Parts: sequence; C-alpha cells; structure tokens
Amino acid sequence: MRYFVTGATGFVGSWVAQQLVERGDEVICLARKTSNLRWLKDLPVQYHYGSLLDAKSLQDGIKSADYVLHIGGVTKALSIQDFYAGNVEATRNLMETVKTVNPDVKKVVYVGSQAAVGPSPQGTLLDETCEMAPITDYGTSKMQGEAVAREYMADLPVTILRPPAVYGPRDTDVFEVFKSVKNRVNLKVGSGDPHVSIIHVFDLARGIIEAALHEKSAGETYFICNETPCYWSEVIAILEKLMEKQVLNLAIPYPVANLFAGAMELAGRLSGKPTILNRQKIREVNAAHWIVSAEKIKRELGFTTQLSLEAGLAQTLEWYQEQGWL
Ligand SMILES: NC(=O)c1ccc[n+]([C@@H]2O[C@H](COP(=O)([O-])OP(=O)(O)OC[C@H]3O[C@@H](n4cnc5c(N)ncnc54)[C@H](OP(=O)(O)O)[C@@H]3O)[C@@H](O)[C@H]2O)c1
Repeated sequence: MRYFVTGATGFVGSWVAQQLVERGDEVICLARKTSNLRWLKDLPVQYHYGSLLDAKSLQDGIKSADYVLHIGGVTKALSIQDFYAGNVEATRNLMETVKTVNPDVKKVVYVGSQAAVGPSPQGTLLDETCEMAPITDYGTSKMQGEAVAREYMADLPVTILRPPAVYGPRDTDVFEVFKSVKNRVNLKVGSGDPHVSIIHVFDLARGIIEAALHEKSAGETYFICNETPCYWSEVIAILEKLMEKQVLNLAIPYPVANLFAGAMELAGRLSGKPTILNRQKIREVNAAHWIVSAEKIKRELGFTTQLSLEAGLAQTLEWYQEQGWL
C-alpha cells in the first residue's frame, strides 16, 4: 500500500514511516526544503517536497496515495497565529487537497492531541464524549484542527486520534526528565504530583497504522494511550532505579515558576525560537490530572499498547545513551 505521511521528518512521523517500511509499504514523506532528514536518511522512502501551508504543493504527493496520515503539526510556537497556521490552516489545506485530488482515498488519519480536550477537572478518566476544554493556545489550535478534520468526514473516511504525552527515542521534550534524573535534581511546579496518560512512540506509531487500516475507524475519534495512567513521580522513580541515581525533588512555587517561564518566553521571542518552558507550559504541568480512557480504541479497533512504562523507559534510556544524548 502507498502512504502519504505528513510530519514524517519529526519525532512521531519518522517512527510511523519506519514501521511502514518494515511492513513493506511504500512511503511518501512530505518534507520541506528546510526539513532535517536525519531520521529518514537510511529508509527507502520517497520525498515529496511541499508545505502544509501551500495546498497546491501537496497535490502530486497525495493523488496516488492509498492512505494519508496527517501527523505534521506545530507543537511549539511564538504566537497563537503560528499555532493556528500550523495546526488549523495546515489541516484544511491537507483535507481540501485530498478531497480534490484523491476523494477515493482509503483513509485519512488526523493526529490530534489530548491537549485539545484539556485536563480532567474531577480526576476521572475523560472519554471521547467529554467536552473539549483546552487550556493552552496549542490545545486550542489542535481542537480547531480536529474541527476541520471532522468537517471533512462527510466527504472522506477520516479518523481522529488523540495521543497524550508521547515519549521514546528521538523525543526532545520528555527527554528533559531523563536529564533531570541524570543531574539528580527534579524541579516541580508546586507540591502536586501530576497524574498523566502517556504512550511510547512505538505503540503510537503502530496505533496510527492500525487505525488507518481498520475498516470501522472512519468517522471516529479515539484517545490512544496506555490503559493505566501514571503519576509523574512513578516515572522519576523508574528512571532513578534504571540510572541508579537518587533525585532531589525541588518544589518551585507556582508564581515563581510562572515568572521564570515568562523570562524564558521573552528570551525565546528575542531569539525568534520558541522555548520548551513558557507560561502556558507551567499552566499545563500545574493541572493535576491529564488522564484519558483507552477503552474506546480497545473496544472498537482492538488496539492496546504493548510496552509497559518500565520497558518503554528502559528502551528509551538505552537509546539516549547509545546516541550520546545522556
Ligand atoms: N510529541 C508529543 O508528545 C505529542 C503529543 C500529542 C500529540 N502530538 C501530535 O503529534 C504530531 C507530531 O508531533 P511530533 O512530536 O512528532 O512533532 P515534531 O517532531 O515537531 O514534528 C512536526 C512535524 O510537522 C512538520 N511540519 C510542521 N509544519 C509543517 C508545514 N507547514 N509543512 C510541512 N510539514 C510541517 C515538521 O516538518 P519539518 O521537519 O520541516 O519542521 C515535522 O515533520 C503533531 O500533530 C502533534 O500535535 C504530539
């Protein structure tokens, strides 16, 4: 089968491309002239050069695809407009192009985010029927991107997936936690212990492909994550054991963390590069429960994750060490 994959040069998309190649599928990766091809260079994939912000540039790559996997998006930006362009306009350009040049496509998978729904106010597992209440500009743009994807469900077989925090080889965000444990100091915002849903990128990549192939997934929205959420302290404890380090947990009061994040944000603006830490991130980590249910995707598509948290963290740590990142 022939797949057109957006975001294939990024963290999640590169693993999807790799798994497709391993399955013997033909993969066309959307790339920009500026894209770093480091994760794809050893794979027998084809490149289609274009931008999600230029619908015309997508046409030739999409028209012959059996499946379109829309993984590309903007996870860090300096402005709400940049999030909107990268996650909403980009999704409309992609969907409109599929509708125009390949209306008989077998499936379009839109990779959304748990951030579109927001944290769980009561600490119960949110499911797909819950109201969407994002608390960040990123989350709002992913909610709007979903809305665009949903508009096209009348014309195209579209499936929406909402992953929570994704970790694994090539990730640079959860990687910060690995570094903290290595340095034996973990900075926390406030005294809480966030309760989170999580998924290893290998499981997510497999889930994206399985959702594309499943005949019942069209027109549906699914959270995709480990069945059991974890506390952030559990992640730290597993890493402490794996790295044989003992971590000093330092709780930073919310106003202090917010002030520091504001300064980082300003530095980001001055350098023109978005930083991982900003005031919206502080708001995110300050929410107690980012937990969702994996029940629907298990029940309807038979999908469950295979890597336990312990095994996934151990595999990821090994990769960071092999790469010399840690
Ligand atoms: N990582 C997570 O924890 C997480 C959690 C939930 C949901 N998600 C969602 O999963 C998806 C992938 O995330 P990720 O972590 O893999 O992000 P990433 O590593 O930052 O990759 C983003 C990808 O999108 C591409 N892209 C962005 N704007 C583009 C444009 N205008 N035209 C063409 N390509 C464009 C990038 O291409 P370049 O290489 O050219 O920049 C890159 O391939 C996103 O939709 C994100 O919202 C991620």
